Amino acid sequence: MVEILSNTILEVKNLRKEFGGLVAVKDVSFSVEAGEFIGLIGPNGCGKSTTFNCISGLLKQTSGKVEIFGEDASEMRPDEIQNLGFTRTFQHTRLWREMTVVENLLVPPRNQFKPNLIRALFQPHTRDAEKQRLIRAYEVLDQLEVPHMAHNMASELSGGQSKLVDIGRSMMGDPQLLLLDEPVAGVAGPLANKIFNNLRRLVDETGISVLIIEHNMDFILRQGVDRIVVMNEGEVLMMGTPEEVRSNRAVIEAYLGAAGDENIGGENE
Ligand SMILES: Nc1ncnc2c1ncn2[C@@H]1O[C@H](COP(=O)(O)OP(=O)(O)OP(=O)(O)O)[C@@H](O)[C@H]1O
Ligand SMILES: [Mg+2]
Repeated sequence: MVEILSNTILEVKNLRKEFGGLVAVKDVSFSVEAGEFIGLIGPNGCGKSTTFNCISGLLKQTSGKVEIFGEDASEMRPDEIQNLGFTRTFQHTRLWREMTVVENLLVPPRNQFKPNLIRALFQPHTRDAEKQRLIRAYEVLDQLEVPHMAHNMASELSGGQSKLVDIGRSMMGDPQLLLLDEPVAGVAGPLANKIFNNLRRLVDETGISVLIIEHNMDFILRQGVDRIVVMNEGEVLMMGTPEEVRSNRAVIEAYLGAAGDENIGGENE
């Protein structure tokens, strides 16, 4: 049997992004393999969201490269990148407040509105497709362990529940890679743990990959991710398993320097 040597689905190579005179991302390189759950962490303003914006095609990098499944994606539009199986959430959750949770899951991303939509609506297979999407929506709510929320209005949800529905929306299209921008910021501890546990299970059961931005080092070190990419001032400070990150001198110094000892090496050490 021939062994598949590379399962790399995303490769970021020497990514740099400038906004006028400001260098938001200086030099970032890392890769994501199929079936990996990776944390991207770093202090406020270090360039995490900008990195996501370049990967998902919303921003064009100043230099460097983004490769998806080995193909140069640097010139691709966001919808082309999404069609390759990359979906993302944004740091600030945006749901349709006057719709139910399940309706929110059914709202298709903009690029799915093709010019032939009206014609397609009257063809029988489209109704089948709608039915499949509804089945998928309930499946996603099951995977996130919130089937009971299906008919709640989005406006009634707590901040944490809204984040969960937002993750659900990104899961609707059977993605290969989920890019989640701080999905547990401001979410209470137990729900934040639950979100991470569900993502871990999703990765293990389906083989998709998750790249998740988080700013709390202490929190992510406990969450069972496979690897952590640590950013600082637009660069990758180091990457490795949670154990390697925990004991890395540069990380300890940067975090102790930046934020006192609240973020790393705290309790239970
Ligand atoms: N569209 C933009 N125009 C100008 N400057 C920007 C833009 N987007 C981001 N920046 C700047 O680039 C730097 C990196 O921002 P970015 O949002 O990527 O950081 P971050 O690591 O996601 O921070 P946070 O933890 O606060 O979300 C910051 O100094 C920010 O002000
Ligand atoms: Mg950000």
